[in-house]
Amino acid sequence: MKTASNKVKISSGDLVYPYFLVEGQNVKKEIPNLSNVYHFSINLLLKDIAGAIVLGINKVLLFGVIEKRLKNPDGSAAYMPDNLIARAVRAIKNKYPDLIVITDICLCGYTDHGHCGTLKAQSAKRQAKNIKLKMQNDVILDHRKTLDALSKMALSHAEAGADYVAPSAMAKKQVYAIRKILDENGYKSTRIMGYSAKFASNFYGPFREAVDSAPAFGDRSGYQLAYSDTKKAIQEIKDDIKEGADIVMVKPALAYLDIIKKASERFKTPLAAYNVSGEYAMIKYGAKIGLWGEKKVVFEVTTAFKRAGADIIITYYAKDIAKWIREK
Ligand code: PBG
Repeated sequence: MKTASNKVKISSGDLVYPYFLVEGQNVKKEIPNLSNVYHFSINLLLKDIAGAIVLGINKVLLFGVIEKRLKNPDGSAAYMPDNLIARAVRAIKNKYPDLIVITDICLCGYTDHGHCGTLKAQSAKRQAKNIKLKMQNDVILDHRKTLDALSKMALSHAEAGADYVAPSAMAKKQVYAIRKILDENGYKSTRIMGYSAKFASNFYGPFREAVDSAPAFGDRSGYQLAYSDTKKAIQEIKDDIKEGADIVMVKPALAYLDIIKKASERFKTPLAAYNVSGEYAMIKYGAKIGLWGEKKVVFEVTTAFKRAGADIIITYYAKDIAKWIREK
C-alpha cells in the first residue's frame, strides 16, 4: 500500500514469520546457518509467539521437522493423525485464536529421499539401485500419490484450525486438489496460499539443512521452475488463481523482483514474496563481517519487495523488522 507521499512503507502487518517445529519439550535450538532462527518444541513455540505478537506479528508459517527414522518414501508422517503440525496448530489456536496460522504443505521434510512428493517407480528404482540420476529431470513425482498425500496433510491442518494451508511441492493441480478435499470436508473457509512461482533456486540451502530435506539424489528441477523462464512462472500463478488460491507467491524474492512486479501488475490476488533462507543468511553474514548495518540493509531489501508489488512478505527477519518499526 502506498502512503500519501507515494513512498513505500513496511508495516508489521505485511510480514509473516516462519517457525520450524520439532518434537519434544523445552527445545529451542538455533539452526546452524540461520542464526537467530530456532527449532522449537511446541511448548517453547507458544512462548516465542507471545513475544512475536507483542511486537506486532499477526501471521506465522509453520514447518515440521521430524527425525530421520520417521521418514519413509511416502512421507506419511506428514499426514498421520495428530501429526506434529496439527498438534502445533491446535495449541497455537487454543492460546492465540487471532493469530493467522499458515502451514507449509510439502513432503520434502518427511520423505526419506528428500523430494517434495512420492516418486514415480522409475526414479524410486534407480534410487534403490543407487544409480546416479544424471538427467536433472530424472526425478519425477508420482502425481496421483503426491496429490493424495498433500491433500491429506492439508486436511489434517485444516481440522486443527489452520487459517491457510500453503502447498509448496510444485505438484501440478495441488491447489485444485486441496481446495476440493477441504470443501468436501466442510472446510470452505480454510484458505490456500499457493507457492505458485517457486523456482529451482540455490538460495534454499540453509532451509534444507534446517529441515534435513536436501534431496538424497537428483534435484528439484523436474518440478520446480527454471529461473530463466518468466512465462512459465506467470502461467503457474495464473493456474493457481484459477484453481482457487487466495494468495499467490513468488519465491525466492530478492533475485526475482521482476517476477513479483509482473505478477502484481497482472493479477489482483494478494501476492506474497518469500525472502528465503539463503537470502537471509547472506545479509546476516554480511552484517557479521561488517559489510553493512543489518537493520539498514534489511529495510532496503524488504522495501524493495513491497515496492515491486508484494502485499505480504515472508521473512526470517519479520520479528526484527517489527521490533525495529516499534523503535522508530
Ligand atoms: C519445501 C520448501 C522449501 C522452502 C520452503 N518450502 C525448500 C525447497 O523447496 O527445497 C525454502 C524456504 C527457504 O529457503 O527459506 N519444499
